[in-house]
Amino acid sequence: MGLVTGFWSFKTFAAAVEMELFTRLAGGRTMTVAEAEKELGLADRPADLLLTACASLGLLAKDGDGYRNTELAEEFLVKGKPYYFGGQVTYCDQRTYLPWHRVGEALHTDRPLTWDPSTQESMFDTADPRMLESFWGAMYSTSIFTAKELAAHVDLSGSERLLDVGGGSGAYPIELCRLLPSLSATVFDLPHVCEIAAGNIAAAGLSDRIATTPGDFLTDEHLPEGHDVVLFSMILHDWDAATNQQLLTKAYEALAPGGRVVISELLLNAERTGPASAALMGMNMLVETVGGRNYSDAEYTDWLAAAGFTDIHTVHFDAPGANGAVIAIKR
Ligand SMILES: C[S@@+](CC[C@H](N)C(=O)[O-])C[C@H]1O[C@@H](n2cnc3c(N)ncnc32)[C@H](O)[C@@H]1O
Repeated sequence: MGLVTGFWSFKTFAAAVEMELFTRLAGGRTMTVAEAEKELGLADRPADLLLTACASLGLLAKDGDGYRNTELAEEFLVKGKPYYFGGQVTYCDQRTYLPWHRVGEALHTDRPLTWDPSTQESMFDTADPRMLESFWGAMYSTSIFTAKELAAHVDLSGSERLLDVGGGSGAYPIELCRLLPSLSATVFDLPHVCEIAAGNIAAAGLSDRIATTPGDFLTDEHLPEGHDVVLFSMILHDWDAATNQQLLTKAYEALAPGGRVVISELLLNAERTGPASAALMGMNMLVETVGGRNYSDAEYTDWLAAAGFTDIHTVHFDAPGANGAVIAIKR
């Protein structure tokens, strides 16, 4: 029954985020059903059902007659908090939820459902203002906390210059530069995405340490040089094996000896039986990409070795955008 009704949980959660319920309850405020009726403009029955359901999902707790945020909701669902996750909730609700309804079609056609490959080069090649606002906002809210977890498990303290390939919103370099005072970074991404990243970097007050370099990692012959770490976060799951081997070879060529590559992803286990976070992200790649899928660390290890890297190892952690990182060195 839990499997069958997963969408009930998601849509309840997404509706509460859309009404900014958790933001309204920031700082320990409580809300009774009668207050929810007034503030959210709901009738008594839906107000009661929504608050009860959010409590059942672990998002609200109850004090007397009033509902308040749980610690989880307070940290991740209050707008303006550093690790606000609502961008991903909104993206899934508005962009991927309805296409996922036709996932059976994607299984039969092996074609994405959220965009049309006959009119667009890739899902990222877009001028659609809603996509520009929502996708990279969703990536920011997923990656900012994932970067923190990566930094807690992968020792980057000796690194000075990070190249974030397909760096998107700039979330990784922003969080890593906040945590590592001697680090500077470059976001390499498509030109329209670099504009989004530059805005986020300026808002974080880090324009003096994080640069943006527009380019195309598929068609440019080389990646920018002069960095001692090359990061791929949630990049390689967007593409097929042959493309990934080329990207890792470009990373190898761009690094000086001693440089490192870090692949941050939701990794499948070697037996290909899970975990569900990686396997279902793989299904999402069916809905959203041509040729993308989630891979195991064994597959990344083979490609890294083929590109020339050594000292290949995997570090495991637990975050929304990655359950581990595969790391290797250019000797
Ligand atoms: C799934 S997002 C990951 C963003 C970021 N690395 C993160 O983890 O938050 C994939 C990124 O790859 C970028 N990208 C896609 N195709 C690209 C290309 N041909 N050249 C450069 N960047 C590209 C997209 O614009 C997008 O920012």
